[in-house]
Amino acid sequence: MANGTFYVTTPIYYVNDKPHIGHAYTTILADVLARYHRLFGEETFFLTGVDEHGQKVEEAARKRGVTPQQHCDELSEKFRALWPTLDVTNDDFIRTTEPRHERVVAQALQRLWDAGEIYRGEYEGFYSPRVEKFFSEEELVDGKCPETGGEVFKLKEANYFFRMGKYRERLVEHLRANPGFIVPESRRNEVLGFLGRPLQDLCISRPKSRLAWGIPLPFDADYVTYVWFDALINYVSAIGLHADEARFGRLWPHCNHLIGKDILTTHCVYWTTMLMALGIPLPRRIVAHGWWLVDQTKMSKSLGNVIDPLALRDKYGVDSLRYFLMREMVVGLDADFSEEAFLRRHNYDLANDVGNLANRVVKFVQRSLGGKVPAPGVADAARDAEVRAQAEALPGRVRELVGGIRIEAAIEQTMALVRRVNRYVAETEPFKRVKDDPANAAASCYNALEALRFALHLLWPVMPSKCEQILAGIGAGAPVSTLADLRWGALVPGTPLTLDAPPFPRHEVPALGGPSPAGPTHSPGAAGGGGNAAGRGTAGEGPSPSGAARIPYDAFAKIDLRVATVLTAESVPGAKKLVKLSVDAGESAPRRLVAGIAEAYKPEDLVGRQLIVVANLEPRKVFGIESNGMILAAHDDAGLAIVAPIRSVQPGGKVS
Ligand code: MSP
Repeated sequence: MANGTFYVTTPIYYVNDKPHIGHAYTTILADVLARYHRLFGEETFFLTGVDEHGQKVEEAARKRGVTPQQHCDELSEKFRALWPTLDVTNDDFIRTTEPRHERVVAQALQRLWDAGEIYRGEYEGFYSPRVEKFFSEEELVDGKCPETGGEVFKLKEANYFFRMGKYRERLVEHLRANPGFIVPESRRNEVLGFLGRPLQDLCISRPKSRLAWGIPLPFDADYVTYVWFDALINYVSAIGLHADEARFGRLWPHCNHLIGKDILTTHCVYWTTMLMALGIPLPRRIVAHGWWLVDQTKMSKSLGNVIDPLALRDKYGVDSLRYFLMREMVVGLDADFSEEAFLRRHNYDLANDVGNLANRVVKFVQRSLGGKVPAPGVADAARDAEVRAQAEALPGRVRELVGGIRIEAAIEQTMALVRRVNRYVAETEPFKRVKDDPANAAASCYNALEALRFALHLLWPVMPSKCEQILAGIGAGAPVSTLADLRWGALVPGTPLTLDAPPFPRHEVPALGGPSPAGPTHSPGAAGGGGNAAGRGTAGEGPSPSGAARIPYDAFAKIDLRVATVLTAESVPGAKKLVKLSVDAGESAPRRLVAGIAEAYKPEDLVGRQLIVVANLEPRKVFGIESNGMILAAHDDAGLAIVAPIRSVQPGGKVS
């Protein structure tokens, strides 16, 4: 495979925060991407770190009676030590109090000051200490911080400003010319919308009298730099800007920033214009993911619903945690966290599909075929070829999906191979055939183990520990270092199979919400999770010619039917009839639906199709997943058929 370079960053986390599932998610996503790219044979660099300056840190240190530096030394160590326990393999960990960083920030400030890109002016605004940002009066919501709802304080003071406003048009041009620069598209549109209005200059300083814990402005010792100007520069200071230009030049053009949607403007507008002013090319891509929610609500300390990744790791293991986070969230959309959904994924995908396949084949070989990798051969020529072809096509497919940050889809493709191999074992029946034709049973097991070896390599970036353990247990040894070395037939006959227990023991699912695994009950003609579609059987004079009760026109007019395009579709573990969809219904964000159409349509065949959605149904939980509406489908003896417009219609188009 062609080599390349991949540089990935996470936000640097506020050192004062206790790491929660959101921090763990971004960092694990970066790790999974880095591991995939290493496997693709690319030069890879993965950076994370902590953001140590600012008022909150200063105050917390004062309260504890220690210096801010001592406080940061202790807290940053907690973050640094945390990541390896989640199998995170960052190449560097930057702290904003390190000289290598402070030096570059001071150099950048001086350069912009010398070039007239920074000027002194008067600032008046409302300051929110939580996000360390100023807001204008119009931006406040009920007199509170528009981002946190917290207190703001009115301030007027002399400060330094970066001429950000003048870069607006250049930035718009860059976004237009590079559609993949901000991922997903909805976030790119949000930034373009923001840039549709005049862009203010950016206040980049604080007087030392108010905040001492920061990097001093090199041209005015009475001021320190504002937290974002300091923090964003970590992405270039860590890889050698002004220190090791060769290394910087090699890595920087390939930089992928992973961020949560909360810090979109700071990265897509502040950072990009800072780079323009500094004469540094823009990074390759900014990927903004959604929120992990709990019961559709943002996690917060005050609600007491913050999910602790370490508790989950301790209870269920690091691999299941990583698998769930990567499989469940479509990058760009919000995802709901529940322990029930977590355990379902674990049980269906890991215990049933992966674990059971490995355990079943190994046990059988240990019992009936000498306990060693059996000899290859032909079990069932057509099926053997089909499984092998699917395995050999997988690395290329996964590479393409990972390139587009479609981790959940890459996992789904890999799990499709695992499920195919499970079926292959059932179809070729080595358990039955071993008596009369042991060579045939051996060939079947060889093929199953070989295909499983492929799948495990492609799950390895997501679940490194377990995949290594299973690979060793099926006689495959350590994983190959790049996918170019993953070749069919490399499993060596005669190698002992040592896997001695199911690799993913099942867990009890405590509370079962939603309907039975057969899927939701739905009214005729509608396939979705919204329940009762059209005020059935209420008004009217006698039945209609179809036999159904008549309804007044007003009742029909209340139903908001819209055209939607399917963005993503995936099966729901344990619910054979259900498909989880995200659709574009012309709204500001994708809409999540759960529909009972899996028996008629494969998830992968739905992506890109248009549907009719009942858009104003009350949300309803289906199998523990919230469904926001229902899709229309027709039914006859042949089964179910989705109702769709006969030409492509703009998403959100009204159906009446
Ligand atoms: N220090 C700044 C970032 C500076 S980057 C130059 C900061 N730090 S933070 O500690 O608040 O971390 C923010 C990041 O944590 C988010 O952008 C996101 O990556 C992650 N998450 C925090 N809460 C989250 C969820 N509930 N869900 C998913 N990720 C979220 O902002």
